[in-house]
Amino acid sequence: MSILGIEEAVFGVTDRQKAVRFLDDFGLKRTRSGKFGANYNCVDGTVVKIRDYGNSSLPKAIGPKSNIREVIWGVERKSDIKNIADELSRDRSVEYCKDGSIRTVDDMGLGIGFKLSIRKKIKVAETEFNYPGNAVRKDNPATFYERAIPQCISHIVFGVPDIQIVEKFYCGRLGFRVTDRYPNRGVFMRSAPNGNHHNLFVLNIDSRKPKFDHLAFKVNDIHEVIGGGQFLTKKGWKTRVGPGRHYISSACFWYFVSPLGGALEYCADEDIMTEKWKPRSFNVGPEIFSEWTFNADSTFRAPTASSKSKR
Ligand SMILES: [Fe+2]
Repeated sequence: MSILGIEEAVFGVTDRQKAVRFLDDFGLKRTRSGKFGANYNCVDGTVVKIRDYGNSSLPKAIGPKSNIREVIWGVERKSDIKNIADELSRDRSVEYCKDGSIRTVDDMGLGIGFKLSIRKKIKVAETEFNYPGNAVRKDNPATFYERAIPQCISHIVFGVPDIQIVEKFYCGRLGFRVTDRYPNRGVFMRSAPNGNHHNLFVLNIDSRKPKFDHLAFKVNDIHEVIGGGQFLTKKGWKTRVGPGRHYISSACFWYFVSPLGGALEYCADEDIMTEKWKPRSFNVGPEIFSEWTFNADSTFRAPTASSKSKR
């Protein structure tokens, strides 16, 4: 089966107007809105939906109030949906919808679905850098970003009581691969052998229930991460962490506290893996969380020996 990534993320929120204001400022394209809630698109056509948290059509919440309610994964072929339905219906009910997609729950208790992906292929022009002795841009000032426009959904992150249960479900039943891990603490998984460093990351937390942490969106480059973050800051939205650069996945990031129940992240320049990739293991620590982070104390942003330059 070929699961391309997150196709739709559906949220139940307590303050719909505030959520709409946030997503408008975040740069997603609002395609429909009204009393029912609102639908947004990334450039590639992947979707974020918000609905009132009491909306009876939403799957059961994994936590209180504003929260992620459903993650729909996009698959390459119709036959993938049948294969997934056959596999998952061995131990849970799987509902077929009119559009050919399926809905069920994962082993976290999260509503999930699978549908034929309608994402468009995107190809962003390369950012040109002038290096010493190697001027790429001549008579051509760089691109400046007043705000960010998310190209696609990158990944989703949860704190969970037991990462092994989640790894067993997604890797054992749905063919996800482990890209990297914090042994006994966290696991980065990608939905396809060739693809994004992670589409799903789970970290053990001291809780009996899973907790949605954040949803991340890719933008063009580090300049757009910064431009988008500055725009959200100007609009009064609060930084959760960033800007910075992750050590695992190499991505530049900026996370914002959102009214959707967790953070939303801009990210750029994430690692892309192939089937040749061998998973690495790391000890959890702030210096592994990021190579550098603004607005963090010196212990938080100190680089490690392992993050030293390759030169
Ligand atoms: Fe992230």
